[in-house]
Amino acid sequence: MICQSVILAAGLSTRMKSRIPKVLHLLGGKPLLWWAIQPVKDATQREPTIVIGPDSDDIRDAIGDEFTFVEQIERLGTGHALLQTKDQLEGSSELVLVTSADMPLFRSETLISLIRVQDDHKGPMSLLIAKPSRSRGFGRILRNEGGGIVEIVEEALANEGQLALKEVNVGAYCFQSDWLWEHLTRLPLSAKGEYYLTDLVGLATAEGSTVAWVEVDDEDEIIGINTREHLAEAHAALRRRINRQWMLAGVTIVDPSSTYIDPDVSIGMDTTVHPNTYLEGNTVIGEGCVLGPNSIIRNAAMGDRCHVLMSVMEGATLEDEVLIGPFARLRKGAYLCHGVHMGNFGEVKNSTLKPGVKLGHFSYIGDATIGENTNIGAGTITCNFDGVRKNHTEIGEDVFIGSDTMLVAPLSVGKGARTGAGSVVTKDVPENTLVAGIPARAIRKLDQGE
Ligand code: UD1
Ligand code: CA
Repeated sequence: MICQSVILAAGLSTRMKSRIPKVLHLLGGKPLLWWAIQPVKDATQREPTIVIGPDSDDIRDAIGDEFTFVEQIERLGTGHALLQTKDQLEGSSELVLVTSADMPLFRSETLISLIRVQDDHKGPMSLLIAKPSRSRGFGRILRNEGGGIVEIVEEALANEGQLALKEVNVGAYCFQSDWLWEHLTRLPLSAKGEYYLTDLVGLATAEGSTVAWVEVDDEDEIIGINTREHLAEAHAALRRRINRQWMLAGVTIVDPSSTYIDPDVSIGMDTTVHPNTYLEGNTVIGEGCVLGPNSIIRNAAMGDRCHVLMSVMEGATLEDEVLIGPFARLRKGAYLCHGVHMGNFGEVKNSTLKPGVKLGHFSYIGDATIGENTNIGAGTITCNFDGVRKNHTEIGEDVFIGSDTMLVAPLSVGKGARTGAGSVVTKDVPENTLVAGIPARAIRKLDQGE
């Protein structure tokens, strides 16, 4: 539904006890404010206006320029924060949706139903309410005998009877535009010296207007972040949500409570994710893969039927049927072609391993290209750094690199060549030649298939 929207993000977040603004604390790898923006954008089909405090360049930088930011210079409460957007938004006949940046888990469907209720309603405002098992400091909803909502009392100002009420204000509202801008300037100063947005409910009922509501049943959706304990609860809730979505899409997640999947990740059908596995950033996983346990895969891509066991991958790509681990580390620019096998304690950076390459044990491959079906023996190292420059190593196809070979780059090893165990190879090796020693010398030419 097309409507205007405002996200309040100027609060001081003192309860987080942090040097970082609350709205920049991370949830699933993205700032809380990013999470707050998504469902609002989806629900209203517009970019929201975001209220931030002074000196909030870090927030602008983290979120991006496409949004309209309005500054609240003095932090005088949620009502005062919304008032700062008046000049910008007044005059439109569209409804105004208002949410907080510390409510990261709303679904767009919930916000759409709030807008719909207000659209059908003759009164000036509607709000989301809930009856959660924990109040998390939320304001309580007061009703009259007829069941109408008449007031919101902040937890800090509530008496014992009010504190016992189960119904809370979730912190999302939809207003008739003219009424909102006219009444925001009439908010009373609270006992805490702030102008509370929630007091608009009292103003509406005092005029004889009714306030409409939508009740949210899913407790996970209404976790608001005021403290780090709440942030941990939001992490758990987000995990439940994302993992459930992947299980519905055909992914086996052995233990959803210890599987951490970021929002931009995609996973193919029949992939299995074992416990304590992190899929982060823009990671793309094919079908039928087996991931984990104990693996971190960040900004990486893999094809179908790959296995990653107790390994760390970042900025790396695997084609189909690549097996890595346990204890493999793939860094930026590692590209492992079809059928490559990389066993324990290997590290590959900025290198291409052509189809069928085997790198079974204890090796470092950096800035190299390794030809098809080449075998890299245990303990092989590409000595790519000479103290100043990173140098390239080129190894041909069907090469056999003996255990504990040092390949001092820049270097090329011709196809079909072999190196003896413990060689230190400093000069290019011709095709089909056996080299050995320190520094390695050619021993003899090899017969075909030797
Ligand atoms: C607010 C509501 C409370 C509700 C809860 C639900 C008020 C007075 N209370 O309480 O009824 O149950 O949200 O989430 O509204 N902010 C500003 N400028 C300010 C103060 C706050 O922009 O001067 C922003 C904050 O950054 C935050 C949002 O407004 O994103 C809410 O403020 P917060 O202090 O967290 O309010 P709550 O105590 O959670
Ligand atoms: Ca809050």
